[in-house]
Amino acid sequence: MKYEQRNPLPIPASGPSESVSSTMDTIFDWRYALEQENLLGLYEKGKLATWNASDLDWSIDVDLEKMMRQRSGAAAREAFNQLLQPPRPLDDRETVEVNLNMNAWMLSQFLHGEQGALLATAKIVQAAPLEEAKWYAANQVADEARHVEVYHRYLTEKLGRSFEVNPHLQTLLDQIIEDSRWDMTYLGMQIMVEGLALAAFGLMKVQMPDEPLIQDITSRIMADEARHVAFGVLSLQDLYRDMTEAELREREDFIIEATHLMRDRLLMEQVYERMGFDVKVWVTWATNTPFMKGFRQMLFSKIVPNLKRLGLLTPRVREAYEKIGILQFENLKDSTQDAEPTPPAELVQLLAKLQGAEQPASGA
Ligand SMILES: [Fe+2]
Ligand SMILES: [Fe+2]
Repeated sequence: MKYEQRNPLPIPASGPSESVSSTMDTIFDWRYALEQENLLGLYEKGKLATWNASDLDWSIDVDLEKMMRQRSGAAAREAFNQLLQPPRPLDDRETVEVNLNMNAWMLSQFLHGEQGALLATAKIVQAAPLEEAKWYAANQVADEARHVEVYHRYLTEKLGRSFEVNPHLQTLLDQIIEDSRWDMTYLGMQIMVEGLALAAFGLMKVQMPDEPLIQDITSRIMADEARHVAFGVLSLQDLYRDMTEAELREREDFIIEATHLMRDRLLMEQVYERMGFDVKVWVTWATNTPFMKGFRQMLFSKIVPNLKRLGLLTPRVREAYEKIGILQFENLKDSTQDAEPTPPAELVQLLAKLQGAEQPASGA
C-alpha cells in the first residue's frame, strides 16, 4: 500500500488531533455461548466479502473538472439556476466550481465519518456483551480501516481538493465516542451515521455515472455498509422492549439531537466559505429551497425504517420527524429486508437534469 498524498487534508480549527475521554466498561464473555445464528452468519459473510484497496484500478485518470465541463454547459447551468434557485444566478465557471466543491465536501465528510466508524466499532469490540458480536465488530473494524484508506487515497491522490471535518459531524462523532452506554455507540454509529451514509452513497453513484473509480469504490463500500447497518439492527432489536421509560427517554433525546446534527451538517457552510459567497445568505437558501430540502430528507430514508424496527419510532421521535418531513419513510424496507437503498426515480431524474444530461420523458 503506497500512494502519494498530492493534496493533504486541511486541518480543522480545533487542531490536527483531538482527544476524547470516554469511560466505558469492557466486557469479557466467558460463556462463549455463540447462540446468535444471525450474527454468526453476518460474521461469515463479512469474512468472505473482504477486499483490498489495492484491488481497485488506481491507474484511472480522474479529472472531474474536465468531466464536469464536458457534461455541463448551458443545460446544466440553467438546470442548476432553475431547480436550485440559488441566491443569485451562477455563471458556467461558478456552476462547475460549486459542483466540484460540493462533491469534494461530500467525499471528505465520508472520509471523516469512516474514521469515526473505525473508532466507534473498536469500542463495540470491547463493550458488546456477546462474543459473536465482538467477532463481527472486529471484522467491521477491518472494513472501516479500509474505507478510511480508500477515501483518503481518492481525495489526496486523485481529487485534488478536500475539506476538514464538518463541525456538526465532529460534535456527533464526539458524542458517540464519549457515551458510556454500549447501545448508544451502536445507535449513533450503526443506525444513524451509517444509515445516512448508505443513502448518501446511493446518491453519489447516481451523481457520478461517468467516473468509474468512484463507482467501484462506492459499490464496494456500500456492500460493506449494508452489513454494518444490519449488524446494528440485529444487535439492538430486542433491547428497547424491556427498557424503563426513563432509559427510553434518553434514547429518544439522543436520536432527536443526532438527527438535527446530521441535518445541519448537510447545509454545507464550508463550501460557501471556500467559494467566497455570503455564508449566511447561502445557508438560508440551503435551508429553505425545496430541492435542497428534499435532498436532505432523502438521506434519512434508511434511518427511519430501521428505528421503527427497533421500536424507537416512539410518539416523541415521530413528532420530531414529522416536523422536519422525514416520517414519510417509516414504511420503507428496513436494512434486514433490503440491504441497499434505491434512490427514488424522481430524484434520479432531477440529478440527471443538474448534470445537463438528456433524460427520456418516461423517467430514469
Ligand atoms: Fe465504513
Ligand atoms: Fe461501516
